[in-house]
Amino acid sequence: MSRALRAVDIIIRKRDGHELTPDEIGFFITGLTRGDIPDYQAAAWAMAVYFRGMTAREMTELTLAMARSGEMIDLSDTVPFAVDKHSTGGVGDKVTLVVEPLVAACGVPVGKMSGRGLGFSGGTVDKLESIPGINLSLSTEQFKRQLKEIGLVLTGQSANLAPADGKLYALRDVTGTIQSIPLIASSVMSKKLAGGAQAIVLDVKVGNGAFMEDLKSATALAQAMVSIGRKAGRKVVAVLSDMNQPLGYAVGNAVELREALDALRNGGPADLREHCLHIGEHLLRLAGRARTSKQARALLEAALADGSALMKLRQMVAAQSGDVRVIDDPELLPKAALVETVAAPRSGYLAEVNAREIGLAAVDLGAGRAKKGDPIDYAVGIIVHHKVGDRVQQGEPLFTIHANDAEKLAAARERALAAHRFTTQRVRPLPLFYKVLRSR
Ligand code: URA
Repeated sequence: MSRALRAVDIIIRKRDGHELTPDEIGFFITGLTRGDIPDYQAAAWAMAVYFRGMTAREMTELTLAMARSGEMIDLSDTVPFAVDKHSTGGVGDKVTLVVEPLVAACGVPVGKMSGRGLGFSGGTVDKLESIPGINLSLSTEQFKRQLKEIGLVLTGQSANLAPADGKLYALRDVTGTIQSIPLIASSVMSKKLAGGAQAIVLDVKVGNGAFMEDLKSATALAQAMVSIGRKAGRKVVAVLSDMNQPLGYAVGNAVELREALDALRNGGPADLREHCLHIGEHLLRLAGRARTSKQARALLEAALADGSALMKLRQMVAAQSGDVRVIDDPELLPKAALVETVAAPRSGYLAEVNAREIGLAAVDLGAGRAKKGDPIDYAVGIIVHHKVGDRVQQGEPLFTIHANDAEKLAAARERALAAHRFTTQRVRPLPLFYKVLRSR
């Protein structure tokens, strides 16, 4: 007779570098979800995974077990084909706010459950919450109904979507076990698989403002997620994109929403527009809406130019009880009491606009949270005015701070100034993208 499974034996087996069986992984995740396995054992196990890693087979089993720990949303009775996108997190990353209405306006339904920001990295839910009245706690029924009726939903993650990930993520956050490829890959993909989309575009960020700071580890993470998606029968494309400087110019919540609205009005920063078009191309092609990138781009550009992408977001905000007046007039979004533009202290080429430091300066202002559950200030943030490679004249605007507290403003000013590095030599602009991986 085989011996009953015990959490401690599973921890020891992983600690000693063995491959866990599907039964062991299933036992551990079920026990964690039910509360049978205490936090200290889950944390010890996460640390063992952190040091020992996981095989591709283990990663897939872990992802499936975490996805099945809660509701698995079936969208097949709702829309013919649903797509989703996910960013591994960055600074100034408001792509979801632009690309999802854009793709929906091109006739491809998008339903997405998004997360909140943590540390230097922002979250879509926080940005959307700067719209007064918006409901971001939709039930699965409401999610499906809205997806069917208007083809676009952006909401917070329901408590019953991959609850094992919710528990494990909270533990990882306080036990130094976030930066683990198998744990990040299974965390992201469990939520994507449970969310029900048939095709997923993963925006894997690389750089000082991302979880993965170098291309090698970002590629390994992307490969892991693409492989999990393939084994779970989903079409997945992973795009590796730069996160060494903020995406676009705005970093914060309302300020980022305002910039996203500019992009949806066929304007906004060039890098943000290009990023959204690129991600949008992959989504339209995966959904079979376009055969080539060129065809996809033509559809996307038309939806920006004729206002239909902006109207799609407006329709979604109205459906979710948000105040649509802020979509028509972004000046009505929350505004900070103190706005200060800081001038360049010298002339030269910008060698660095450190994304992580700018993200942290925005957190210092109150735009983000140091720990889960902290309140945030929707109005505050930083607008950088330049990109790496720009030639800047002493005295011209370098960045603008939106603050509600003079002391915090002073601290953010110092931090944001230090995030800008000047040189006398010409500097090449940073690339937007590094590479693309596909499940098939
Ligand atoms: N995003 C997630 O959802 N999970 C991680 O572990 C890291 C980033």
